[in-house]
Amino acid sequence: MHVLEAQQFSREWLETELFPLAERLAGGDLVDQRPLRDRRLFWLFYEPSTRTRVSFESAMALLGGSVSGLEVPTHPEELVSERLEDRVRVLNDYGYDFILLRYHQEGGARRAASVSRVPIINAGDGSGQHPTQAMLDLFTIHQEIGRLDGLSVALVGDLTFERTTNSLAYLLGHFEDLRLSLVSPETLRVRSDVREYLDQHDVRYKELRDLREVADKLDVVYMTRAHTGRLQHALRFESEEGCYSITSEVLDRLPQHAIVMHPLPRGDELPPALDDDPRIACFRQARHGLAVRMALLCLLAPERATA
Ligand code: CP
Repeated sequence: MHVLEAQQFSREWLETELFPLAERLAGGDLVDQRPLRDRRLFWLFYEPSTRTRVSFESAMALLGGSVSGLEVPTHPEELVSERLEDRVRVLNDYGYDFILLRYHQEGGARRAASVSRVPIINAGDGSGQHPTQAMLDLFTIHQEIGRLDGLSVALVGDLTFERTTNSLAYLLGHFEDLRLSLVSPETLRVRSDVREYLDQHDVRYKELRDLREVADKLDVVYMTRAHTGRLQHALRFESEEGCYSITSEVLDRLPQHAIVMHPLPRGDELPPALDDDPRIACFRQARHGLAVRMALLCLLAPERATA
């Protein structure tokens, strides 16, 4: 099975397979059995990464598997001149069990999957999706808030080009009584495919321009990074400072049980000076990525590694 987009994964699979196994692995269970011994992962990355790449590498190593990889800078142009599909075809014949792909353009993972017998794991494709990030995000919410139904969640920032919020919106759509606030500049509104999905799944959502309007009603604030200067550019035209950032004012309004998430790396939208507030959960979130990716690899391994 390839892991291409978040909407492939059902609520039942998340709650009965992925999350219980991630909890066991986080607690050290199964690790000494080396369930991925003799399994090999190849990472092929066209964009930099700290968390996704290193957590998958660590997951493989901790579970007894091995890893190799190739970083393909997108500049100069000639380095990306070899077709993605050709690289993936070649890797298919080198005995790997998983190919972890980060690609700089939307659709890269699907293109790779079209020529691959080996499972492709989408580690982020341009402004498309980042499904394993959404899995660890949902796991974090479950661990921190204790439930996934009846949540009030704000997705904040560049909602047009940010792949993590696309994937998370798709997964959140599985859960009951969700109230979603989509907080972005007019020029960076949530994509139409995500909006259509939310409409089809009867998710209650509203679009707004200032996080402070809803901060006192939230369980989860999910901040996004501005991959480029797009968000800053939008702000220059249409809003004042503080609409799409975590500030002392936002924290004053936010309920004590709420959490602030961020996929990292961060920019000005989540100042390090506020990190001492226990509601800032971004580093706990990154830590959960290891257990969730360990569990995912075990579930994807050709023979179930977790009997
Ligand atoms: N959250 C995330 O995808 O981080 P990296 O870019 O470091 O992998």
